[in-house]
Amino acid sequence: MHDFYDATGFAYANAYAAATNDPEAFWGAAADDLHWDRRWDQVLDRSAAPLYRWFAGGELNTCYNAIDHHVATGRADQLAVIYDSPVTGVKRRITYRELRDEVARFAGVLRGLGVAKGDRVIIYMPMTPETLIGMYACARIGAVHSVVFGGFAPQELAVRIDDAQPKVVLTASCGIEVQKVVPYKPLLDVALALATHRPAHCVVLQRDVHRCELTAGRDIDWHEAAASASPVDCVPVKATDPLYILYTSGTTGVPKGVVRDNGGHAVALKWSMKNVYGVEPGEVFWSASDFGWAVGHSYIVYAPLLAGCTTVVHEGKPVGTPDAGEFWRVIEEHDVRVLFTAPTAFRAIKREDPKGTFYGKYDMSRFRALFLAGERLDPDTYHWARALLQVPVIDHWWQTETGWPVAANCMGLGAFPVKPGSPTKPVPGYVVEILDEDGAAMPANKEGAVAIRLPLPPGTLPTLWRNDARYIETYLSRYPGYYLTGDGGYIDEDGYLFIMGRVDDIIIVAGHNLSTGSMEQAVASHPDVAECAVIGVRDALKSQLPVGLVVLKAGVTRTHDVIATELVQLVREQVGPVANFRQVAVVARLPKTRSGKVLRKTMRAIADGDGWTMPPTIDDPAALEEIAVALQTLRLAKGPGSPIGG
Ligand code: COA
Ligand code: AMP
Repeated sequence: MHDFYDATGFAYANAYAAATNDPEAFWGAAADDLHWDRRWDQVLDRSAAPLYRWFAGGELNTCYNAIDHHVATGRADQLAVIYDSPVTGVKRRITYRELRDEVARFAGVLRGLGVAKGDRVIIYMPMTPETLIGMYACARIGAVHSVVFGGFAPQELAVRIDDAQPKVVLTASCGIEVQKVVPYKPLLDVALALATHRPAHCVVLQRDVHRCELTAGRDIDWHEAAASASPVDCVPVKATDPLYILYTSGTTGVPKGVVRDNGGHAVALKWSMKNVYGVEPGEVFWSASDFGWAVGHSYIVYAPLLAGCTTVVHEGKPVGTPDAGEFWRVIEEHDVRVLFTAPTAFRAIKREDPKGTFYGKYDMSRFRALFLAGERLDPDTYHWARALLQVPVIDHWWQTETGWPVAANCMGLGAFPVKPGSPTKPVPGYVVEILDEDGAAMPANKEGAVAIRLPLPPGTLPTLWRNDARYIETYLSRYPGYYLTGDGGYIDEDGYLFIMGRVDDIIIVAGHNLSTGSMEQAVASHPDVAECAVIGVRDALKSQLPVGLVVLKAGVTRTHDVIATELVQLVREQVGPVANFRQVAVVARLPKTRSGKVLRKTMRAIADGDGWTMPPTIDDPAALEEIAVALQTLRLAKGPGSPIGG
């Protein structure tokens, strides 16, 4: 079905051709929109291919471009950040000038703690403006931040601490999840006890709802330190220097440290605000996500401010804080023009308020577009949102690794008619192809591996933290000359891309990318478990949910319910509540191929209620039949796998 879009297609076609045919000229022109302390020697350094570096030789400061530059060029009194926290009742409006001053002082705190250019700072914090201030303070002095999402368990935090080796950790006394206070400080203490690396200091934001004890000699009170610190100026860094590390799930269960550079990142994000999102400087842009995800980094923290917009930091949920009208309230109250969130948020609103009763209570007349990403936008949710909002609803596809959209309906380049279920077409800079097993291009409408031709555009990951080999092995080796996305999909006869889901062991839960490998590791650590598999099954609200299939050791006599409860707790402790691991089935054996590979794909098809056939390579067909019964029992009892929108 087509929608009302005005589709001349010229602006997009021209930009796409220019970025594909001469990326150096295209991105070089885009880079002129930033302030450089030293102009680049080369737009694209191809000398170490397949590793590429954008704007080699150039120097700039991301914080300067996102904040100080606007203070100097007429936006000092414009709002930079609107903090709206329905869970605490606090609202705060921060101008660009005020933000510059706070960031400069906090940069002084970091400097005072010995943090210098290239040092790492781990940030484990809730949705408060201080998190954004901490991130920019790092950028200001050339330190490399690594934000860890609050819903991860201490063990996951410890792994990241050991990999990033931070000099300092920034944290808060607590986060607030709807009505539940989550004390962060004890989680950090456990993580530090588990980690081998020892950061010199932790700076702790004390929140009124729950204060915490500081560890003498190690911990520093955020506000006290900021009050006495001297402001520090922006330090020019190389365009190719890292701005941040963001860990994302790896198929092995060991997270991958996605590196983002300074130059390419600033160029691509600023370009995307106008051309992909159609947003002008001075407008309010709201990304309802979390600082801990790539969406939060790119579209709460960096892109809106690079573009001179106002960003919203919302400490709440689409439902329950206090109701399903929360998004509309924020949009009306803060004059939000464009909203970006995950489809799950809209499914949650739809579930609570299917008729959109709350929507009618707010003035949404200035709201212009909704962008959704992070998981597949199922057509039911698309149609519901489109009918309710009466503005363009744009599905767009990207990954932590790319940092900004790979495919979208570019609002700033003359949008195309929508095909529900498709994020439309590749964004200028990305050449997306569908490849078969042998690396040959698939014909239109035939599903295969979604790959992006190298070089990737600026803003995408140049490598993994201190691990070029893993970057090459994971992403660049399967199809030489291409970046492997890990998604399966197809391109139709009109050039529209359809993403059908991951082809690896990563699952997408409520828009969060999680590794079944790390959950399996946790389950396997239980003393009664001989063997296990965790698979993602379809869920009507959260897109997918993990289900554990567990084989117990011989002689275990404890009841399955007790063991299942312990396993749920174990995953919560080792991976975190964000895993949403709540369903376990004890089975006699796991179905495997004759070479010993667990048949996850077939189990997933069974769990989802999709058609499946007995794989010819199966070792013991009875094992799969038993699994089918176990999954069916789980499905009927707890409802996994009910089709999305069904
Ligand atoms: N700190 C600590 N715990 C957190 C957390 C954080 N920052 N974020 C989530 N959690 C916890 C939740 O409290 C929940 O714990 P519980 O098992 O004790 O209830 C658990 O992790 C699972 O969280 P989630 O999957 O988010 O479920 P939810 O029921 O709390 O909320 C939605 C469901 C749909 C409202 C929510 O996931 C949402 O708004 N998602 C869409 C927007 C989004 O953030 N997308 C990210 C990429 S754009
Ligand atoms: P993350 O790195 O957490 O952003 O997750 C990236 C993965 O989410 C992608 O590889 C896809 O599997 C999925 N994803 C993100 N956006 C979309 C979308 N618009 N449509 C389908 N899948 C998506």
